Amino acid sequence: MKEKKLEKTSKENKEKEVTEPVKKVPQTPQTLRGMKDILPADQGYWWLVFDKVRSLAKTYGFEKIDTPLLEESGLFVRSVGKDTDIVEKEMYIFEDLDGQKLALRPEATASIMRAYLNHGMWNLPQPIKAWYFGPMFRHERPQSGRYRQFHQFGFEILGEAGPVADALIIMIAYNFYAEMGVNASIQINSLGCPVCRENYKNELTQYYKTNRSKICESCKKRLVKNPLRLLDCKEPGCLPIKETAPQMIEFLCDDCKTHFMSVLEFLDELGLPYFLNHNLVRGLDYYTRTVFEIYSTGDDEGSQAALGGGGRYDLLSEVLGGKPTPACGFAHGVERAIAKVKEAGQVVPETIKADIFIAQLGEQARRKAFTLFEKFRHTGVKVAESFCRSSLRGQLEQADKLGARYALIVGQKEVQDGSVIIRDMESGVQEMVDFNKAVAEIQKKLLLI
Ligand code: HAM
Repeated sequence: MKEKKLEKTSKENKEKEVTEPVKKVPQTPQTLRGMKDILPADQGYWWLVFDKVRSLAKTYGFEKIDTPLLEESGLFVRSVGKDTDIVEKEMYIFEDLDGQKLALRPEATASIMRAYLNHGMWNLPQPIKAWYFGPMFRHERPQSGRYRQFHQFGFEILGEAGPVADALIIMIAYNFYAEMGVNASIQINSLGCPVCRENYKNELTQYYKTNRSKICESCKKRLVKNPLRLLDCKEPGCLPIKETAPQMIEFLCDDCKTHFMSVLEFLDELGLPYFLNHNLVRGLDYYTRTVFEIYSTGDDEGSQAALGGGGRYDLLSEVLGGKPTPACGFAHGVERAIAKVKEAGQVVPETIKADIFIAQLGEQARRKAFTLFEKFRHTGVKVAESFCRSSLRGQLEQADKLGARYALIVGQKEVQDGSVIIRDMESGVQEMVDFNKAVAEIQKKLLLI
């Protein structure tokens, strides 16, 4: 009997399935791997960093240049280098509807140089000092401090060959962290010019060839494709080979050596903490002479990721078809900077502090409150509201949170009387004033008139 009933139920169910198709719950799209939303709770830190960068730029006389996020992919292939990790493995490249090969910018130095050339900036008094702040894209394996969409701010000096430009760039890169209360140090090296670097590369290749059986598979590839990158290898087995490898500094030609010594003298004069790192080669091909990276001194050796880096790129202009234009610059990662700024306990200054808060009760009062808000907006009084709330208590709590000294309350009765209540948020004392005199009354109370 029981079985029969069950049978019937399952039959009924089947019929139901046919007539009523199961509703599919739509899946909510998620952010892509390695990309994240920046929520209001964090925005204060972004402003803090942006404001510091902007004030440094102003102090040192840099002007902002914004370049598009999309560029011809060839720009980066030619400048960053076709055998680099960025171009070989990490660029977001696609063909647009016109069949043009585009890339989401993985960095901005190439774009800044393109802009300099496109707009004939070499005709302006040199050097051109530019800064930027914005998103970059690299299809890397996401991990802490490494994203696929991340942000950089950078400073570039175009049209100046002297070591003073390298020193200025390093000083600004360092000062950003110093002024944010983060202990940082500088690692520096020179990669020489194409002539002395070629001699060094030959020597390095020769040395690694004699040790070929002891190095990792990636290093065997680097040996053929990009020997300088051998010095970047972190494999334990390769470390002893790297330690005794020839050093670039011994191969610098006289001009490159003089330039490098002069940069170091500037840093000594400024008392900046730097370390010579003979293995520092950077991951982009456009560098000549000075290269450097900024590290947090609090991090353990080995677990360190650079907070920023840069160097000189005297040949990039010619690689992109321009006239010889010596240049140098740096970029810091904003996400990494914010993580360090938080660790250093930097407090974000309160963003919205209100002098007055406009509260309302009821539909008509809300319309009146709107006009009152607009009146105040043009007076220099910092005014806040919470028009979407209807409870007066909730609105007054919000006024308190924002530190408002006075709340202006408009209710049904006030609408009819053409008045408004002014409540002193500290003492709780309330007074009624004429709606049309509310602005003048508040200005008087705040000693604005
Ligand atoms: P970079 O060393 O490739 O140099 O990047 C600079 C900084 O950007 C890094 O030190 C790091 O803080 C940040 N960064 C890089 N990749 C990521 C990532 N996947 N996630 C989070 N942060 C990242 C350049 O880009 C050169 N354009 C710097 C330069 C300017 N050289 C001369 N002028």
